[in-house]
Formats: sequence, structure tokens, C-alpha cells
Amino acid sequence: MVNGEKLRIAVLASGGGTNLQSIIDACNAETINAEVAIVICNKKNAFALKRAENNGIPAFYVSKKTEKSMKAVDEKLIFLFKKYEIELICLAGYLKKISAKIIEEFPEKIINIHPGLLPFLGGKGLYGLRVHEKVIEYGMKVSGVTIHFVDDKYDHGPIIAQKCVPVLYNDNPETLAKRVLTVEHSLYPMVIDGFAQKKIRCNGRKVIFDA
Ligand code: GRF
Repeated sequence: MVNGEKLRIAVLASGGGTNLQSIIDACNAETINAEVAIVICNKKNAFALKRAENNGIPAFYVSKKTEKSMKAVDEKLIFLFKKYEIELICLAGYLKKISAKIIEEFPEKIINIHPGLLPFLGGKGLYGLRVHEKVIEYGMKVSGVTIHFVDDKYDHGPIIAQKCVPVLYNDNPETLAKRVLTVEHSLYPMVIDGFAQKKIRCNGRKVIFDA
């Protein structure tokens, strides 16, 4: 990003892409100084691809099925990130682990949104509705959203931002998911704007916010 130019981001999604939509909307409304330069999905029928198309954003379906091996998937992703001069990679419901090779190529440039409070409610298999089921099962009174850097372990990288969401006495996983998702939609664009303003960096496990 040079002299006030927009931060070029890639959004990776596997599903409906409501987070993708909130990022696109914030970019279009110019409430954040960023642009979604590409969208990549590992599922052919992901609605996120349609959202990209509807907004004139280059969209790619990249999976083991299209590339024949995981090594080739990595190569394709790296090729696309470079070709489109991507400065920040945002995972938004992307259900594939990012390989060590990609993390190495793009240090401190990959972030993820998680629908629960880390480090407690995360790790392999704890995604989507399963997170909210656990919250209800434990009788937790607060849940929340976490945005973190991506490292080589699931839901493990340095935490950038968290916001709590109350759990109501009559919540079920679906009602809680809905409330959490609404918070995701405002928190993710806000964090991306922090990157656009070059205010967020990492020092080991610590995330530094420059004034
Ligand atoms: C969100 O809850 C996000 O936190 C998680 O996956 C879900 C994706 O939802 N990583 P959507 O596809 O953005 O609607």
C-alpha cells in the first residue's frame, strides 16, 4: 500500500460468506481503506463465490479437486496472492488449514476470525456451530469473537482483537451463533482497517497497536 492507496486483501471462505459481505460493504462504503482484490473458495458451490461475482470481484475455486494435490493448491494460492499483489489474507469461514509454506511466504499477513473466545474454545474440530454448542454445554454466560494471526496450529496465533457477546438463558447454539455473527460483521472490518492504517503488528505472541 503506497500513499493512501487501499489495502489489497484476499478473502478465503468455504461457505455462505456473510463476513465476506460485511468486508465488501465496508470497502464499498469507504468506512475502511481497503479493497477485496480476490475471493478464494475451496468449495465449488460456496455462496461466497456468488457474492464475489455479484460485486465484480475476481473469484477462484481452488481445491485438491481442481489442482490434484495439496502442494499444487499451495502453489496456486501463492501464485494468486502474488499476482493480485495481496497485502492481507483474511480467512472468513475457510475450513482448510493454511500450510506452513504459505505462512512462511506471508509472515504476519494472514488473519482469521473465530466465533468464540480463544484460547479456550478453539482447536481442531472446534468450528462453526460446534463452538456454540460447547458454550451452551458448559453453561457459559459470555461467548465472543476472536480475530487472530494465523500460525501453524489451529486457532492458535497471536490474538489481535476480541469482543464478548452475552449468552442468554434461553439461547440454543443457533440463536447464539446469530448474535455472535452480528458482532463478527462489525469487528472484522474494524480490524482490517487497523491493518490498512498500518497500526497493527506482531512482536512474538504480542500484538502491538501503534497510535
Ligand atoms: C463465522 O462464524 C466465522 O467466525 C467462522 O466461520 C463462520 C463463517 O461465516 N470462522 P460466514 O461464511 O462468514 O457467514
